[in-house]
Amino acid sequence: MRFAIVKNAKELAERAFLEIKKVLDEKPDAVIGFATGSTPIPLYDKMADDHKRNGTSYKDVRAFNLDEYVGVDPGDKASFARFMQDRLFSRIDIDPANTDIPNGMAEDLSAECERYSAAVKEHPADIQILGIGANGHIAFNEPYTKPEEPTHIALLTARTRADNAAAFKDPSLVPQYALTMGIDEILTAKRILLLAMGENKAQAIYDMVMGRDDTSCPAAALRRHPDVTVVLDREAAGLLTFGEWERAAEEREARQAAERAEEELEANESDEAVDGETAEAAADEASEADEDAAEESAEDEDAADEDAAEEDVDSDGEESEDGEEADTSEAEDDEAENGEDAADEEADEQADEQADEQADEQADEQDDGADASEEK
Ligand code: PGA
Repeated sequence: MRFAIVKNAKELAERAFLEIKKVLDEKPDAVIGFATGSTPIPLYDKMADDHKRNGTSYKDVRAFNLDEYVGVDPGDKASFARFMQDRLFSRIDIDPANTDIPNGMAEDLSAECERYSAAVKEHPADIQILGIGANGHIAFNEPYTKPEEPTHIALLTARTRADNAAAFKDPSLVPQYALTMGIDEILTAKRILLLAMGENKAQAIYDMVMGRDDTSCPAAALRRHPDVTVVLDREAAGLLTFGEWERAAEEREARQAAERAEEELEANESDEAVDGETAEAAADEASEADEDAAEESAEDEDAADEDAAEEDVDSDGEESEDGEEADTSEAEDDEAENGEDAADEEADEQADEQADEQADEQADEQDDGADASEEK
């Protein structure tokens, strides 16, 4: 996960737009996953403005949205279909035939979910824009949703209904159900761009990054994705301390490396039964795998540190002055530590190699001696 901390909605829009533009420049017929809610509105304004001023075209773009209320007509101002129309699609040159959103008015909602799942599978997003609920939901995947559930009918929590009440004349009119893309389906996007603003998102952001590795915070599933950019204002980032996050990431990597080594050991043990390898050799290989995995994790951490540092470089001087610098130096400390660890490991390996070589040479010499005396 890369983090960009911004000062306000304007900066959030500009930073997020860079990500969208990068994708469009690479691939004018990109598939973009759109989100609704108040957070992406400044981004959509920026896209509309850029389209008008600079002519960035969306005519070959295909659009998918994350979710829609059940029982709200697409023409209704409270519907997400209408939101997308008013906030973005009517302001750019996207072909309406290339836009798709679950139909919450479908007679057969299960069939509609299946249709949507198939469409998303056929056109995985090149970039998926996401907001996050105060309870950690992504799309309408509320806490404890099974990640593997495909597009489905979701029962909205009281908190989500309250948070979404503004679009309705009366809070009691907020639907109880919605159709939503599933978590694993969201993760099929090549890149993810998550946006969050405000103190009321701080706990959800913390849980997404640092929280328990379970389904209590659906956004925590994004830790499994290799390319996530999180653009936050300081209020939403308020509970994050990046050193803490990096330590947690390190622990996670080490755990995964140990699991991989264990799996390899098991695989080697079953191979052994087949081709009669000694248990010693299998154990040696497993410890080599362990070392490789540890090295890999050190490299990954270095990359994570670099990413973190990169974002700090992105931030302007003013941000560095009031606190961002502390995060950078923490990242640098970690980097230095990783560097030292890697250097120690390398020195150990070299020493081992030298010792092995020496032992081999001695053995060869002895063999030669033995051969020579035999010849005599
Ligand atoms: P918001 O909604 O952008 O209106 O805060 C985000 C979400 O609930 O996913």
